[in-house]
Amino acid sequence: MVDGVRTADRASSTAAPRPWRLAMAEALYGANGFYARGQAPGEHFRTSVSAGPAFAEGILALLRRVDLALGRPDPLDLVDVGAGRGELLHAVATVTTTAEPELSGRLRLSAVEVAPRPRGPAADLRQAATVRWATSVPPQVTGLLVANEWLDDIPLDIVEQTAAGPRLVMVTPAGAESLGAAPAPADAAWLARWWPLRPGERGEVGRSRDEAWAGAVGSVRRGVAVAIDYAHRLGGRPAGGTLSGYRAGRAGPAVPNGSCNITAHVALDACAAAGRAAGATVTLLTTQRHALRELGVTGRRPPTELARTDPGCYLKALARAGEAGELTDPGGLGGFDWLVQGIGVPLPLR
Ligand SMILES: C[S@@+](CC[C@H](N)C(=O)[O-])C[C@H]1O[C@@H](n2cnc3c(N)ncnc32)[C@H](O)[C@@H]1O
Repeated sequence: MVDGVRTADRASSTAAPRPWRLAMAEALYGANGFYARGQAPGEHFRTSVSAGPAFAEGILALLRRVDLALGRPDPLDLVDVGAGRGELLHAVATVTTTAEPELSGRLRLSAVEVAPRPRGPAADLRQAATVRWATSVPPQVTGLLVANEWLDDIPLDIVEQTAAGPRLVMVTPAGAESLGAAPAPADAAWLARWWPLRPGERGEVGRSRDEAWAGAVGSVRRGVAVAIDYAHRLGGRPAGGTLSGYRAGRAGPAVPNGSCNITAHVALDACAAAGRAAGATVTLLTTQRHALRELGVTGRRPPTELARTDPGCYLKALARAGEAGELTDPGGLGGFDWLVQGIGVPLPLR
């Protein structure tokens, strides 16, 4: 199961309480779900992709390293999983087409997205022949697979530890919660390994994310897979959980009625283990701040002298430094984690 959303999760609408995983799947990807209605992620929350072209420059720098490690294959894949409106691939294509025709000629761009494809003249341009759209990861990828803020949108169950043992948290579309049955043995085992709970605490069962990530890594024949997300690690899991809703740029309660995006931070350390089991030969778990700086995306301001000699260039460099500063801010996007896994190639980042 590469797409992380099981068919059974696409249950029909009901007002009865049900486990969070089903509720979230319906609220995001069901018939009237947030993403199924074609909501553009960038209109509801700011991701690194929507922060401007500096993020794509970092990904392109990473792609060049992967290309080199692979011996410049033809085709060279760049796969964006959870591609939203395809902005990242579009930005990479724009730079390579004009500045790197040799690379551009070998590049095979794939957008993997379950939401409806964007429509309209700008979207047509964005998708001009160069980008292949699919609802699941293509098999036999040779190159770079990127998943920016994908895993946090994979539906998951929530469990509360009671005196009688762990219980599934149930929820109605209006957001009213109650406790249900014990979680499935595989979920209980996941919690015991990755999110041990004390009485009264809640855990978010990341097994669905592990499976989704393992599917993505397993589709890479040779190359690198990168998951970028807000994350937590064993020993630092937030006791109350991280489930929240996003709508029109604001965080709010997670109400699974299709009106908002519902996300929960990702146990990327658990995903790393799943990726290793799926074939990753090397792994790095680091912050976006570190990764982007290593790739040359820094918030360094241009010399003020440039303002006098070339004001246009100075302003451009200043705007780019601002963008890079936002992407590497440790209190914001820079605090995201990067899970970088190589499949048959060395790590492209230190
Ligand atoms: C938070 S948005 C991120 C969009 C984009 N990557 C960005 O950074 O702006 C998550 C996207 O993942 C998509 N998605 C969720 N589950 C998916 C799946 N199983 N396969 C493909 N896309 C999926 C959603 O439809 C949504 O567009």
